[in-house]
Amino acid sequence: MMRPFIFVNIASSADGKISDESRKQLKISCEEDFHRVDRLRAFSDAIMVGIGTVLSDDPSLTIKNPTLRFERFEKGKPPNPVRVVVDSKLRTPSDAKVLDGSADTIIAVSEKASRDRIEIFSKKAQILVAGEEKVDLKKLCNHLYGMGLRRVMVEGGGTLISSLLRGGLVDEINIYYGDMIVGGKNSPTPVDGKSFSPPIKLELVSVQRLGDGIFARWRVKYI
Ligand SMILES: NC(=O)c1ccc[n+]([C@@H]2O[C@H](COP(=O)([O-])OP(=O)(O)OC[C@H]3O[C@@H](n4cnc5c(N)ncnc54)[C@H](OP(=O)(O)O)[C@@H]3O)[C@@H](O)[C@H]2O)c1
Repeated sequence: MMRPFIFVNIASSADGKISDESRKQLKISCEEDFHRVDRLRAFSDAIMVGIGTVLSDDPSLTIKNPTLRFERFEKGKPPNPVRVVVDSKLRTPSDAKVLDGSADTIIAVSEKASRDRIEIFSKKAQILVAGEEKVDLKKLCNHLYGMGLRRVMVEGGGTLISSLLRGGLVDEINIYYGDMIVGGKNSPTPVDGKSFSPPIKLELVSVQRLGDGIFARWRVKYI
């Protein structure tokens, strides 16, 4: 199956949490990390999130620095990468920022999504039906490849990342560890869902101090 290069980028507390028990957006990144993430977005063809992240954080998933957007434009690319929401039942709110028109958006749904909602949302986004219950992530990734998208950045959350890893669909994981402890056994983590047995092994590509935290890049080894 042909698919793009897929990498995860996530901000975690030092104790491995990506939000607290409220599941609301938590500022973990520092200024330096914010700029790093913006540059990573600028080098991506698509940015993918799960519906849980859209409902909790309402992210716009766009490039904030106008110079980076202009550089893309000069290379003949759209100013912002394509936004991809993984959303079986099409629960994306109609006023979600991912539908604000500032970039193309694909909502990947399953056959559980209502035909009426698909028709309504088709005016604001491309709707891809893939999978019976949950979104078939392999089909989705293959579809993105077919659209010419070669670098996909996954910005959460832990449920989506877990499924992508289980499907062998993640090549690299970038984690920024911020200078805080969040705690809470029900707080989301970079990889939720069921545990992997045996664990998925990683190879450390690089590690550096960034602002007040640590930035680590890992390559995923599926063997
Ligand atoms: N710190 C960070 O960098 C960061 C980044 C992003 C998010 N977050 C946090 O992460 C939390 C949200 O994460 P989350 O785990 O609840 O949600 P999520 O991973 O964003 O979305 C998961 C949802 O996607 C849908 N889905 C459809 N097909 C799927 C498939 N094949 N595999 C997996 N999911 C599929 C499911 O809902 P349906 O069945 O309804 O489709 C599932 O519940 C929030 O607290 C947010 O603040 C933190």
